[in-house]
Amino acid sequence: MKQGTHYFHVPELDITEQKRKTLVERFKIYQKFNRGGDWYENANGTTSKTFNYYPSGESTLKNIFDDKQIRHMRDICKSVPGDPQTTEPFDFLHCQGEVFKHKDELRSAVITVPLLLDNDHGLQFWNDEGTEMIDYLQYDYKTYIFNSKILHGVNTSVEPRLFWQGSVFDQVASFEDIRKQYESGQLFKD
Ligand SMILES: [Fe+2]
Repeated sequence: MKQGTHYFHVPELDITEQKRKTLVERFKIYQKFNRGGDWYENANGTTSKTFNYYPSGESTLKNIFDDKQIRHMRDICKSVPGDPQTTEPFDFLHCQGEVFKHKDELRSAVITVPLLLDNDHGLQFWNDEGTEMIDYLQYDYKTYIFNSKILHGVNTSVEPRLFWQGSVFDQVASFEDIRKQYESGQLFKD
């Protein structure tokens, strides 16, 4: 599968190593004073101690992204009025251990900025039956938008991983919508 079907690179949102370190430090401070969300519950009812989301807000992003980048991200990453399940769309994702293959329930697409990765960490995309890997995203500390409605998972890691993410909720846009906006120059480019 070609890049673009399941994910695409957004060079306009790549961050420098220095900024990445700064964001990790901010997360560590933030983590001391803020409880994260609940551990993620899998669609099959099991609860894996895999995902923990910490709303980041915008102040955490000061000098990491400029106002224009944040404005563009906010255009597509916004909560849905009246829907309490779509809360703050900017967050840190802290994860560790086994990640079951899943499709996101609320989100259609995710802006993902890798902050801490283990040695061999990439995002796997699977066919609907979960029998065949159809694509693989090697993060390489670059910023991507991926299609979270495709069955996806990662290898189990004992090391913690950390990402900053922006969530595109189902009601706001589909992955295809976002990709078309990006390709037509409406996102992140002006
Ligand atoms: Fe996911």
